[in-house]
Amino acid sequence: MRLKNKVAVITGGNSGIGFGIAKEFVAEGAIGTIVGRNEDTLKSSLAALDNKFIGIKCDVTQLDELTAMFAETEQKFGKIDVLIVNAGGAIGAGTAGNMADVTEEDFDKIINLNLKSVFFTVQKALPHLKDGASVVMVGSLTAHKPLDGLTTYGGAKAAIVNYARSFSKDLAHRKIRINVLSPGTIDTPVFEKLGIAEDLAMELKQHVGSANLMQRIGLPSEMGKVAVFLGSDDSSFVIGQEIVADGGVYHF
Ligand SMILES: NC(=O)c1ccc[n+]([C@@H]2O[C@H](COP(=O)([O-])OP(=O)(O)OC[C@H]3O[C@@H](n4cnc5c(N)ncnc54)[C@H](OP(=O)(O)O)[C@@H]3O)[C@@H](O)[C@H]2O)c1
Repeated sequence: MRLKNKVAVITGGNSGIGFGIAKEFVAEGAIGTIVGRNEDTLKSSLAALDNKFIGIKCDVTQLDELTAMFAETEQKFGKIDVLIVNAGGAIGAGTAGNMADVTEEDFDKIINLNLKSVFFTVQKALPHLKDGASVVMVGSLTAHKPLDGLTTYGGAKAAIVNYARSFSKDLAHRKIRINVLSPGTIDTPVFEKLGIAEDLAMELKQHVGSANLMQRIGLPSEMGKVAVFLGSDDSSFVIGQEIVADGGVYHF
């Protein structure tokens, strides 16, 4: 019970990696809030979290919604021990890949969700975080290894690795630790959201998912276990770092 009675906020906790993190957090004794826009999955996730979490509908790209969500969380649970900044993704911006084709609109969309919202999720949390809190930002292998179609996204994810260090310095007087968890390919609903035929999506998942030393796709629960380490006192001397959990791609 490494997170017993710890108050956590997990953005994107209603799907994929965020939901995997939430389940591991509940297993370690945490309580708190999962955040997303989809009211159905927010609601349906709660039973699987033993009703230890509440769901708050919030678009993380809207600063006033972030402010309201953190205030509601503090009112319900008290100050926050662990913040997981996970909401994000590369889907929904048609030409955000090859830099020659990226439109200003697509660029803004990807950067708003994967960089600007990360910055302001942490900033708006500050009045509600305990001194000594742990913040984990979810990055991506693409921060280091360019992947076709993910140019704009990879740049945003690379920037948050820098933020982990600069935020840690800015917030050191409060002993707040900021680290990054960068997944490789993980088995989440993201493949179903690609808008391509189901068999093609499965083929793609199989192909990119097995291109690592472990020769298999990663699981949300495996990301959850790394997040427990970074979120708990087990990592009390780990500050401004990145853990790349990719089954063996980045350094090979
Ligand atoms: N799966 C992978 O292989 C992989 C690899 C590297 C990094 N990542 C990163 O891991 C994180 C989670 O991805 P995933 O694969 O678990 O995808 P996912 O299953 O599609 O989950 C994305 C989550 O983000 C939330 N979200 C998206 N936009 C939001 C917004 N504007 N406001 C609030 N919530 C928002 C979604 O909730 P709603 O739809 O309800 O808003 C959902 O809970 C992302 O940051 C992604 O970049 C994933």
